[in-house]
Amino acid sequence: MVDKDNMSVDEVLKMCRQLDGDGAASASEDPPAEAAGSSVPDSPTSASPDPVQEAPADTKKAGEMSVAEILAAARGKASEKDQSKPKPKPAAKKAAPKPAAADKSAAATVKPSQSAVPKDTSSILAAARKGTKPGPMSKAEAAKLAAADGGGKPKAKAKLNVPPMPEKPAYAQVSSPTAVVTTEDRRGFISTFLGSFLAVGFSALGLTHLMGLLGFAKFMFPNVRIEPPSQFRVGFPDDYAPGMVETRFKAQFGVWVVRYEYEGQSQIYALSTVCTHLGCTPNWLEGEQKFKCPCHGSGFYKDGINFEGPAPRPLERYAIEVGPDGQLVVDKSKKFNEEKGQWKDSTSFVPA
Ligand code: FES
Repeated sequence: MVDKDNMSVDEVLKMCRQLDGDGAASASEDPPAEAAGSSVPDSPTSASPDPVQEAPADTKKAGEMSVAEILAAARGKASEKDQSKPKPKPAAKKAAPKPAAADKSAAATVKPSQSAVPKDTSSILAAARKGTKPGPMSKAEAAKLAAADGGGKPKAKAKLNVPPMPEKPAYAQVSSPTAVVTTEDRRGFISTFLGSFLAVGFSALGLTHLMGLLGFAKFMFPNVRIEPPSQFRVGFPDDYAPGMVETRFKAQFGVWVVRYEYEGQSQIYALSTVCTHLGCTPNWLEGEQKFKCPCHGSGFYKDGINFEGPAPRPLERYAIEVGPDGQLVVDKSKKFNEEKGQWKDSTSFVPA
């Protein structure tokens, strides 16, 4: 037998629909689980005090009520029973018959707290959407879920709690602005350094080329020593007094013109200014009346005979003659040596 006091809402609804004569249509809308266990009593009218009929009995009969009204009345009845009736003990549940039996009283047993939960489809879906949905989710579902959570508006990002920067170590701290060497300064120094090296290299190369050009020019235009003419005039014979030594032509022609006696004969002759020792140039000492070589001290008399020092022989004579104009002409191309007896040659002197 069915305990009508413990009937669920669905069972009450089904019973009411059967009473309304719409049982066939409403049975197709019932969930399969309930259809499988449809062991609703065939004669609900035989059931004693029906909660559905009792609720609206005040105003309408059961056959005149719509399904929604019957459902509302059944929910109100169930809630009143939940509040007034104590909870059944677990032992009573165990004693109840199993759902496999034709009697659906055990299967339809509902806890008082569960009977207050709305059982319609929209409520179940809404309750299910509030929880976490496992598995994949379509875009439409994601949009609905986002709209339900926050209206689709993105949440403001939480501010990150970033720790402060650590302090620089002592070696990384700059003591003064002048100690800062930037990258640009280093690059400038390197470019200047390399530039100076390149400048020095190119300058040295240019200087070397210039010196080469100068050497080539020197090769093309060599030094030419202009020798004095071998014959030159030294004045008239009367210009020379007895015992006179003319030194005017020493620097230009390397010749002393002397008027003096040799072997008892007064002569005018031209003496060489080259020392017969090692080639130095002696000086005429008017106070000592001799030629003195400054190099090793050789001394020569006025006639050119050596008398002191290392000079091995007398000074040499050049050829001299009276020219067409009456002037004395010295010819250095001819030399006369006294040790060879050449001073007796008539061209080695001019009689005075
Ligand atoms: Fe004249 Fe030696 S060169 S004395």
